[in-house]
Amino acid sequence: MSNSEIKQFFKNQTIFITGGTGFLGKLIIEKLLRECWDLKKILVLVRPKKGKTPQERFNEILERPCFHHIKNKNVWEKISLMEGDCDKPLLGLTDKDIEVLKNETTCIIHAAIRVKFYQSLRELSWHVRATKDLVEFAKDMKNFKAFVYISSQGACCLRNHIKEIVYPPPIKPETLLSLVETCDDSVLEKITPGLLHGWYDSYCYIKSITEDLVKTSGDLIPTTIIRPSNISSTLQEPIEGWNDTSLAAVSVIKGMCMGLVRTLNVYPEIPVHTVPADYVVNFTLAAAWKTAQNSFNTTMVYNCTGEGLSCEKLLEYLETFYFEFPSMKYLWFASVTFRRSKFWHQVWLTFYTFIVYVFDFVFLCTGNPTNYATLYKNAYRQIDVLTNFCRRRVQCDTTNVRTLWKNMSQDDKTLFEFHTEKIYTYDAVKTMFLGMRLYLLNDPIETVPAARKRLRKLYIVHYSIFALFLFLIYRFFRFLLYFVFTV
Ligand SMILES: NC(=O)c1ccc[n+]([C@@H]2O[C@H](COP(=O)([O-])OP(=O)(O)OC[C@H]3O[C@@H](n4cnc5c(N)ncnc54)[C@H](OP(=O)(O)O)[C@@H]3O)[C@@H](O)[C@H]2O)c1
Repeated sequence: MSNSEIKQFFKNQTIFITGGTGFLGKLIIEKLLRECWDLKKILVLVRPKKGKTPQERFNEILERPCFHHIKNKNVWEKISLMEGDCDKPLLGLTDKDIEVLKNETTCIIHAAIRVKFYQSLRELSWHVRATKDLVEFAKDMKNFKAFVYISSQGACCLRNHIKEIVYPPPIKPETLLSLVETCDDSVLEKITPGLLHGWYDSYCYIKSITEDLVKTSGDLIPTTIIRPSNISSTLQEPIEGWNDTSLAAVSVIKGMCMGLVRTLNVYPEIPVHTVPADYVVNFTLAAAWKTAQNSFNTTMVYNCTGEGLSCEKLLEYLETFYFEFPSMKYLWFASVTFRRSKFWHQVWLTFYTFIVYVFDFVFLCTGNPTNYATLYKNAYRQIDVLTNFCRRRVQCDTTNVRTLWKNMSQDDKTLFEFHTEKIYTYDAVKTMFLGMRLYLLNDPIETVPAARKRLRKLYIVHYSIFALFLFLIYRFFRFLLYFVFTV
């Protein structure tokens, strides 16, 4: 019999989740249904997408491996979908749904955001407005206990030392909202570079503004801000190595292994703050429990992060697994160079992009036009934002996280583990690599023997072309010298 206070807290609660179809949201729903099954209901905000209704989308999502442990359990009737969209006023909910939300919800976990860099301020301002609407709903909820906002370390990207406090935002949420309401797109486009000056991108900027909004609301409802750093695959639960996001560091590793990512503008010796997804999930549920005990007026901020590995250490580990468990999905023999200089990184990136253009041209000539070069350039735009975090040594305070951990019972520590010290061992990176291979490359472990043979071929092709390239350069310079001295 478990004496978990966190499980006890969730008993009979109705939790409203935004972002429930996302990487983290799915894991939060899974954990709630697996461990806190005596909750009353989980209301999930889902938007229709690509011609599919929320129900059709959710049915597909439930087929994902991360739900396999609970697939046959009698927990699904606890889920209730609400069609909505954070890009619309009042989250695009009907009056009836808003009524249900206000009458039934006791906790909100707000994780929805377009995790896409380089969006316009207008697009991202919808996140601020949606959060504002959610806060307004929460104020009318009768038995409301906790509002948990999942932010990001990016919200503090201007700082070298990140404390567990909300920093003054670049502009107040109301100012931003009235700015996007009053200015047309061309004016916004003109002023955006000035507003974003120094920020990694508009996503980090908006996160900072939204944190301020949530903090200000802390006077009226119990709020908490969780700031995860870069989130990696799950370490243990619900399954080892799970990941299905294309916008995080693991997808950069995927690109490296496939031989597509060959240059990175990083400082290799700098440790990169990283935290496994299952730890963030457990932390979120523990924080909701803690928030319900807090008095109003204090918005707790948690830097949910662990000391990650430096790029050079990570690469050292990855090299072993790259050869030990190769994949049939490798496209080229991998070889990545970490470059401190942005200039030289750009020079090499231009060269690799040129090669991709050549492939596009070859496909065009064979009657199968492709657009790999555009995909490649877009992927690198995202990578360049992510690698911002690998060029600065940042100190993150985690006192609040450690205090929460200390105050949890032994049962809770077992069920909701998030102790973030010394996570990224050799074995943890192996778990991450095998998960990436299985879930992101969709390659089962049985293909390893065949993939080893393929890797040998890729190796030979790569170095043969490299040798040919050197030979051509040699011939070119020989010709040049001959030309200079004889003509
Ligand atoms: N992943 C990381 O490395 C990382 C690091 C730090 C912080 N975080 C934070 O963690 C949270 C979850 O991130 P994630 O990795 O799970 O992201 P994700 O996989 O991209 O999921 C984003 C979720 O937001 C939903 N969403 C986006 N726009 C929406 C809209 N207009 N209306 C309704 N829902 C919308 C998406 O729904 P659809 O399925 O309909 O698109 C999806 O469920 C975010 O707040 C993010 O900032 C993530």
